[in-house]
Amino acid sequence: MRTTRRFDALPVYLLATIPQKKRDLIARGVDVIDLGAGDADLPAPPAAVEALAQAAHDPALSRYGFGLGLPAFREAVAAWMETRFGHRFDPLTEVVPLIGSKEGLAHLAFAYAQPGDAVIIPDPGYLAYLGGTLLSEAEPYLYPITPRTNFLVDLEEIPASVLDRTRLLYLNYPNNPTAAIAPLAYLEKVVHLCRQRGIVLVYDNAYSEMTFDGYVAPSIFDVPGARDVAIEFHSLSKTYNMTGWRCAWAAGNPTIVGALAKVKSFLDTGQFMAVQRAGIAALASWKDWVPGNVEIFRQRRDAAVAAFRANGFEIAEAPKASMYLWVPLPAGVPSMAFHERLMQEEGVIVLAGSALGAGGEGFFRISFIASPERIAEAARRAGKVLQSFR
Ligand SMILES: Cc1ncc(COP(=O)(O)O)c(C=O)c1O
Repeated sequence: MRTTRRFDALPVYLLATIPQKKRDLIARGVDVIDLGAGDADLPAPPAAVEALAQAAHDPALSRYGFGLGLPAFREAVAAWMETRFGHRFDPLTEVVPLIGSKEGLAHLAFAYAQPGDAVIIPDPGYLAYLGGTLLSEAEPYLYPITPRTNFLVDLEEIPASVLDRTRLLYLNYPNNPTAAIAPLAYLEKVVHLCRQRGIVLVYDNAYSEMTFDGYVAPSIFDVPGARDVAIEFHSLSKTYNMTGWRCAWAAGNPTIVGALAKVKSFLDTGQFMAVQRAGIAALASWKDWVPGNVEIFRQRRDAAVAAFRANGFEIAEAPKASMYLWVPLPAGVPSMAFHERLMQEEGVIVLAGSALGAGGEGFFRISFIASPERIAEAARRAGKVLQSFR
């Protein structure tokens, strides 16, 4: 039975293989510290849990949501976007509810990319961008994001022959996995180029609320003219510790939003409306609940920076955003070998930089998904493995 070229082009999704490896380690009696996925160990807001419990009793919410879903969820999203960023979106035509932002990020490519087209993707980067591109049979143009450009995609370095064919540009700041942030002046340049060339700008803002030390992440719509070309993705996953709930949205240019909604109308029949009810409750708890949650991540970040430094890793500065530390490895230590040995010999799960693209080689990522004490213990074990490479 022959598979397709687009299927064969998909690489291994390393993070998806970790749960089974983790089970095997635990079965062997290993004390596992899992800092792999961006998947918090902390509870969702009580208001969201309560709303879901109540909504589960309502048979009307057990029916298909279709693309429309609960109009009240769309309205809650639009109200939050206005409170948070000061930008207004029409709840019906400029917002699309998503079953987690991953599916939307990937499915959007089905509307805009086809064989012969190029799609610009940060490397390393969240793999849904690559997945959507490859499944659309378009050509990924992987731009290596490194300290040289402050982990920004420098569009001036991309050849005109590629830009001529580019239909989509994926950008994600605050960034997974590097934790980099983007200055507004940079985003202005990006929007300018996308408008000039008619490129759809896909701005992944999944970490907009996970920021520290007074830093406030912008929306791409803070840039004048962004509405002509951009769609911005948001998710409850990270902000509210609700990864498994699959509740997210995209907002922006109504043509782009409408195109994504149309693709989705053939692929899903909407999200569980009880989860949308819970999403409304989560958004309503933003002001009261989110700062305390972010503070927990700030403490973990500080613990991680201190502990990894103390164990021989070179961390230039504490990240201002996201739930990740992007840790450089000394030259000659391959990230996959480091990851594998740290996991098998010491029971610590981190993500090899190269698992998110060849551009991530020379780094590994830890997620702040354990207590400061456990993160410190993980750093100690990682230091031991690092020593053995020297
Ligand atoms: C950059 C980025 N975008 C999007 C997502 C997807 O989040 P979700 O599908 O849970 O909304 C993730 C999850 O790790 C991510 O890191």
